[in-house]
Amino acid sequence: MPDSALPDGVERREFGGETRLATRGPPVYGEPTDGEWRAWDPERSKLGGMFELGFDTGLSGGETVLYLGAAAGTTVGHVADFAGPTYAVEFAPRPTRDLLDVAESRDRLFPLLKDARKPETYAHVVESDVDAIVQDVATRGQATVANRNARFLADDGRLLLAVKARSEDVTADPDDVFTDVLAELDGTYEVLESGRLDRFHEDHLGIVATPR
Ligand SMILES: C[S@@+](CC[C@H](N)C(=O)[O-])C[C@H]1O[C@@H](n2cnc3c(N)ncnc32)[C@H](O)[C@@H]1O
Repeated sequence: MPDSALPDGVERREFGGETRLATRGPPVYGEPTDGEWRAWDPERSKLGGMFELGFDTGLSGGETVLYLGAAAGTTVGHVADFAGPTYAVEFAPRPTRDLLDVAESRDRLFPLLKDARKPETYAHVVESDVDAIVQDVATRGQATVANRNARFLADDGRLLLAVKARSEDVTADPDDVFTDVLAELDGTYEVLESGRLDRFHEDHLGIVATPR
């Protein structure tokens, strides 16, 4: 049954008697499948967690997406199942090898072995005016990465950002880290929604924002 808060192509479906988020595509990480559908594990995906927690992501399906911090493709594989062209930036060669396998069976997924702190190195590949940036880099300087990549985002686009407190400062109170990150984003983005993802990801903040 389609859920109006979810993008087209993301549904809540039964897997083994449990209702779970799901997209349609080849399996990636051993997740349960049902025909063409595969479960989306919110404990392995910050964006999955944001959907489960009812964030208003602004995604309706078919969007052009720039995904920063793609790792082995767990989340970006689901994104490419329901979005349009999906550019997946990852700077570590090892997970990128697995990401290439995920992209093999998804013709809208374009892996880029690039550093998200240096958007000028992929500006010639990524189209401008993408509808959404999804970011999960879990390294120091998460707000800086989001600000630098704002150049790609359409005026009415959405930044869907997961901030890991410990990546900024292992000793600081996560709330203080999140306050600092929100302040740094403020010059570039208007934050529409933010909330803790702790049910699925400890000491992470989910943020939905749009360019100023
Ligand atoms: C928490 S993991 C991402 C998990 C992934 N988003 C998922 O849900 O499937 C963070 C990833 O971001 C990558 N990363 C960190 N800093 C980066 C940067 N500056 N440019 C590109 N990738 C980066 C790391 O190598 C790592 O693979």
